[in-house]
Amino acid sequence: MSARHLVLVGMMGAGKSTVGEACASRLGRGFVDTDTLVEANSGETVAELFERGEAEFRAWERRAIADVAASPVPLVVACGGGAVIDPENRRALRASGVVVWLRATPETLAARVGDGTDRPLLAGDPIGALRRLASLRDDAYTASADVVIDVDHHAVDQVVDAVTAAYEAHATEVGA
Ligand code: S3P
Repeated sequence: MSARHLVLVGMMGAGKSTVGEACASRLGRGFVDTDTLVEANSGETVAELFERGEAEFRAWERRAIADVAASPVPLVVACGGGAVIDPENRRALRASGVVVWLRATPETLAARVGDGTDRPLLAGDPIGALRRLASLRDDAYTASADVVIDVDHHAVDQVVDAVTAAYEAHATEVGA
């Protein structure tokens, strides 16, 4: 088995945490959600950090990703949706893991996030914000991903099958 992390990236509502936890139990690995790590390290919720400005949250997120990337124990990592905007985060994640982009249309994402509670960037107009952020971030997701998996209309189990298969294939392919 590869010693690299399995890293899930993608927009809010793509299913990174749900799929990540299932992949971790399938692979017998630990699971880390970077938002959860940020909250544990800072002692504040993501929403509270955003109240002091997005930069405050992004600084905590950058530290969490650097820590996770440095872990010698291979993990399954679900990244907050905006993590890959930062080139340093992209570099750290790509260097330490196989990065899988869970890609979905804004319509699928909107159906999953509901009214956007607990996601400050979606407040007020979730579908509008998802469309705008998705188009702004497309290049960053493309640049970060080793593998792209379209999740629209797929059940969690199907996505987990696809992610773990792609992870094993890719890890073998690159000889990692
Ligand atoms: C964000 C996504 C959220 C969280 C924060 C910002 C984003 O994580 O990190 O609200 O910029 O897309 P999820 O993608 O896990 O919802």
